[in-house]
Amino acid sequence: MLKIIQKAGQLAFELPQRWLDRAFGNTLNPLRHLGALTIFFLWIVLISGIWITIFFHTSVVGAFESVEYLTIEQWYLGGVMRSLHRYASDAAIVTIVLHILKEFFFDRYRTARWFSWVTGVPLLWMIFPLGITGYWLVWDQLALYVALISSELLDALPIFTDSMARNFLSEEALSDRFFTLMAFTHIIGLPIFLVFSIWIHVFRITRPKINPPRKVMIGALLSMLVLSFVYPALSQGKANPALVPDSLALDWYYLAVYPLLNYWPPATVWALLIGFSVLICIAPWLPPPRKISPVRIDLENCNGCERCVEDCPFGAIEMAPRSDGKKYAKEAVVSENLCLSCGICVGSCPTATPFRTRSALSPGIDLPDQTVATVRDMVAEATGHLEGSRRLIIFGCVGKNKLEKFIDAETAVVNLTCMAQLPPSFVDWVLSRDFADGVILSGCAHNDCQYRLGAKWTEQRMHRERDPHLRKRVDVEKLALLWTEPWCDFPSTAAAIAAFRETLSAPYKISDHETSTPVKTRKHRLRPFGAALAWGLFAAASVVFTIWPRFSQLAEGNAIISLTFSHAGQRVEECRILSQEELNKLPPNMRMPSDCPRERHPVDVLFSTDGQVLFDKSLAPSGFWKDGESTVYYRMELPAGSHELYIGMSDSGREDGFDYTGQTEFTLAEGQHVVVEFDHLQKTFIFR
Ligand code: HEM
Ligand code: SF4
Ligand code: SF4
Repeated sequence: MLKIIQKAGQLAFELPQRWLDRAFGNTLNPLRHLGALTIFFLWIVLISGIWITIFFHTSVVGAFESVEYLTIEQWYLGGVMRSLHRYASDAAIVTIVLHILKEFFFDRYRTARWFSWVTGVPLLWMIFPLGITGYWLVWDQLALYVALISSELLDALPIFTDSMARNFLSEEALSDRFFTLMAFTHIIGLPIFLVFSIWIHVFRITRPKINPPRKVMIGALLSMLVLSFVYPALSQGKANPALVPDSLALDWYYLAVYPLLNYWPPATVWALLIGFSVLICIAPWLPPPRKISPVRIDLENCNGCERCVEDCPFGAIEMAPRSDGKKYAKEAVVSENLCLSCGICVGSCPTATPFRTRSALSPGIDLPDQTVATVRDMVAEATGHLEGSRRLIIFGCVGKNKLEKFIDAETAVVNLTCMAQLPPSFVDWVLSRDFADGVILSGCAHNDCQYRLGAKWTEQRMHRERDPHLRKRVDVEKLALLWTEPWCDFPSTAAAIAAFRETLSAPYKISDHETSTPVKTRKHRLRPFGAALAWGLFAAASVVFTIWPRFSQLAEGNAIISLTFSHAGQRVEECRILSQEELNKLPPNMRMPSDCPRERHPVDVLFSTDGQVLFDKSLAPSGFWKDGESTVYYRMELPAGSHELYIGMSDSGREDGFDYTGQTEFTLAEGQHVVVEFDHLQKTFIFR
């Protein structure tokens, strides 16, 4: 089942990736830099955020006005910064979602990769509150909605004794202190944690790709800039707790969960969020299990050169002091739980050379499931049937390439785990021993190697820029590198192979063929247009769900009533004056004149409209000793029009009737928000 889902997901990715390869070339294809692109968008968010912070007022009165000033008066800079801030935040969500899906579909989240996967989950729990608190600070109508629903969610947690939502129900309840706290969380607290968590996220990866290529950065920045000018981010009218707007432009990227609160209680929404996070966290260990056979070190043949340490993309090898008394200072040691069996270290080992006699072909490091000796046998066997003067051997990597389709009288195929598993000496061996007339190394697309660095290291080794490099005597005209995904891009892979075969008898330089552009054709000239179109579509994708579909908190023709107050029930037992005799029995420091048991009665509340009961609850006192206030916050929707509102409350534990009641005839306007509170001084209910 997992395999089917992953295959379908791979196909869903491969098609757009292929189109984008045409527009960008696969080195600059944004879909191959999703993690790094997310970080770049976060940079834009950070820098634009600094500008906004300079002008932002952390007060109820000043917040909205200061953002309006930036948007309208200072549109050419502050407005653009605000738009960049918003749209880059949304773009980051788009790239994060794609990043998660890609790692999952391409099975890059299990075995040793569990660490990056699991540490991605806290990143999600930071990035969403970061966006949500940002919307809160603007203090427009959307901010009020965000404040109320976020508070309802937080109120469901056993953290606060009072209801947080009550702070946003009326102008009087709002406080500047709250804005200061929110600004601190959004501007300082969460970003610091986020940076630290991203560092942990890539901690176990060698040479993580933190920055996308410069051209990708320029494309991303330009797309956000153009979007900011074409469709500037605006506020949605100043927050007014007394009114519920007809509809809101909800940012579905950050707030998709919030409308669920209209249908489900907060506890259910929490269960959904926590359940989803737990599911992601345990995903790497869910069946079917994946077998990994870590590489083995043969100390007899390890000279301690450290190349395997340099090349392992997952930090699975370390050098340790020599343990076998040989003259070398160090030896390689593999951490089996970090090894992914990619074989890249085998390709880097100078002792892994097929020129050795068979008995001695045991390199310093080797894959138990596909040893260097086995690969040598596979080459001999696969090329046995080749005929003609343009015989080709294609080395491919398992999983991505379905190269078997190309096998014919002139073509042999040998599949490896990763292309960088092949030591460069094999190319020399194949050509010098006349197994074939040409060699193609066909690995995953650039920057998208299943094992991260395989394509890069292969290229550098074959270009003689990295040890172990291709020997000088090898005729590079007989070698081609083909970074391609033939299972979805068969025609261009076939064309690239045919083009290379044609050149075998003519002078030919070592060449890099990219997936969809084997031959330089007019496709290259069209690339800038394709790239511009792709970035345009990306920008549109980053904005579309921030404005559409609009969301209505209320059904048409309705209004809201919020029931909200805190009130302490009377003590269950009255205070009792202690007699002198009783006082004498107590230690001197505990002699209080009266004994007051702390426990309080629950507060019973009933609310009805036109005789119909909408709320009827007994609210337990807060606190461990049940001696705190009881709190009610309840939001209900009513049709606009005239209603008879009634509320009763008892705090004495009486069985029948109420200690306090309130009743009024109220005419609700459509979209009106009425708050029902208890005035503790007057001991009456207020409807406002
Ligand atoms: C703020 C959000 C995130 C950022 C900025 C981010 C960034 C990155 C970066 C830069 C890499 C290294 C890529 C490379 O060099 O090959 C990476 C790897 C990875 N990320 Fe994320 N990531 C984020 C969220 C997530 C989430 C939510 C998940 C999954 C739940 C995730 C899963 C992974 C995995 C599994 C890898 C390892 C890939 C490998 O070993 O080849 N990431 N991420
Ligand atoms: S590359 Fe080979 S020889 Fe060099 S340290 Fe690693 S295992 Fe030993
Ligand atoms: S097989 Fe791959 S992951 Fe394992 S040690 Fe070698 S390079 Fe590292």
